[in-house]
Amino acid sequence: MLNMKFVFYLTTLFCVSSIQLAAEEVTENNVGMEEVTAIPAFSTDTSINNFGFKLLKTMMKQNENNNVVLSPTGVAGLLAMTLLGSTGETYNEIAQLIGFSEDILKNRKYHEDFGSRLQALNRNDTKTLYANGIFVDQQSMLRQIYHSYLERVYNGEAFATDFKDTNQTKDLINEWVKNHTNNKIESFLRQPLPMSTKAVLINALYYSGQWSYPFLPEYTAMLPFKAPTKEVLVDQMANFGQFNYLFSIENGLHMIQLPYNDSVTSMYVIKPRFPKAKTITELLDSLDFEKIDNLINQMSMKKCVVRFPKMELETSVDLKDPLKSLGVQAMFTPGVANFAVMLDANVTVNDPEENLIARISTGEGEARTLKEMLDRLVNPGVYVDSVMHEVKMTIDEYGTEAAAATSALMARSAESFYADSPFYMFIRNENTKLITFSAVIYDPTN
Ligand SMILES: *[C@@H]1O[C@H](CO)[C@@H](O)[C@H](O)[C@H]1NC(C)=O
Ligand SMILES: *[C@@H]1O[C@H](CO)[C@@H](O)[C@H](O)[C@H]1NC(C)=O
Ligand SMILES: *[C@@H]1O[C@H](CO)[C@@H](O)[C@H](O)[C@H]1NC(C)=O
Ligand SMILES: *[C@@H]1O[C@H](CO)[C@@H](O)[C@H](O)[C@H]1NC(C)=O
Ligand SMILES: *[C@@H]1O[C@H](CO)[C@@H](O)[C@H](O)[C@H]1NC(C)=O
Repeated sequence: MLNMKFVFYLTTLFCVSSIQLAAEEVTENNVGMEEVTAIPAFSTDTSINNFGFKLLKTMMKQNENNNVVLSPTGVAGLLAMTLLGSTGETYNEIAQLIGFSEDILKNRKYHEDFGSRLQALNRNDTKTLYANGIFVDQQSMLRQIYHSYLERVYNGEAFATDFKDTNQTKDLINEWVKNHTNNKIESFLRQPLPMSTKAVLINALYYSGQWSYPFLPEYTAMLPFKAPTKEVLVDQMANFGQFNYLFSIENGLHMIQLPYNDSVTSMYVIKPRFPKAKTITELLDSLDFEKIDNLINQMSMKKCVVRFPKMELETSVDLKDPLKSLGVQAMFTPGVANFAVMLDANVTVNDPEENLIARISTGEGEARTLKEMLDRLVNPGVYVDSVMHEVKMTIDEYGTEAAAATSALMARSAESFYADSPFYMFIRNENTKLITFSAVIYDPTN
């Protein structure tokens, strides 16, 4: 069984659209983030965000001067589901990368915390849709205990499908994705998956937000943007008003918060204050997510003039190489990858094994002993072939009625935040503190 070419796909996709239909007054934009439901005191947001930032920087290094777009929360959610089903090296490497523990009992608390944050993204006032799904071959035994834990903690759905019927599987997966992205992604899998596929884990995240303070379309203009090797012309939107802003001399950066009108989501944009002296790559190299959190806490309301490019971003990448260079290797290696907690090598249910795994869920027993017992489960011989990640995003301005009060504001002294050279941006859900989307934009026209 061990060296059969059984493959496993992990797939995340993230879709954001910002569709402005109406406008609000631009003058009195008081960015008060509402206090929302409390999340357990125990927290995974910092380790998840740190993982996302490391992944972003690794992708920057591997794609020099090309835009990098990703959903850190989506990828982390996928890895957490994978962690839950794995054992041995596969387990240790993933746990280490997303900042979880090697102690399987302690990790249950991390899963519960992360899972409750992910589920909180789905609250209907946030306009975020988040979903996890696993598609398993009919001939493979998805362990019932894995499935029920996934369902409870990550709200994950499981489907049995016949991967030999490649068209039917493709349609099933595409329908699921469409259902969970507000019909925005109609045909996610363009090609059928290979017949050797044994499982597909999918995570879909969809966000549709409207700015609290829409940009002013009549001020949108074609202006130069200093991409690394050339100057390009881009549609620069404009906005004026009170925004949360920070100019950090110490870090050589400035940043602005652009809130969405759902009161729990914001975009943050960070760029070097003097791009000639410090590039975006150098700037991000000097930061980690804890520092960024501190910077966010130092922001204050300032009168600002903002220029930000109108963009349609769409990327589809395989995260295998960046994840490998961050130390996750076993899950990609046939014969080494071990998903024995997710899939049973036997076609018949093995009660003692199910009972053993159940003891982890209930927290019975000593962590190390349990882990040693799990390591002795028969390896179902499945490995990960690719980690496909697809992101779509539209950023536009709408909000026409906001124009009236602006010219007066423009005349007075204000901070200027012009995204006219490479910058870093991310969307944070203020309730869960999770970064749902992040990007480094070197050239908005690409
Ligand atoms: C957000 O903006 C949309 C479109 O302009 C509007 O329909 C919605 O009521 C706004 N929501 C809030 C909470 O202001
Ligand atoms: C979702 O929205 C509906 C209608 O606006 C409301 O009745 C319901 O209570 C909301 N549910 C949650 C969980 O907020
Ligand atoms: C799958 O669909 C394609 C295009 O619709 C068709 O050409 C092909 O014969 C189908 N394959 C199977 C195995 O049904
Ligand atoms: C997609 O949604 C439709 C309508 O709600 C439902 O009938 C169908 O079972 C869903 N499909 C999947 C794969 O979730
Ligand atoms: C199936 O389970 C039995 C006992 O539970 C075990 O000895 C055997 O190795 C398993 N077979 C495979 C192919 O994993």
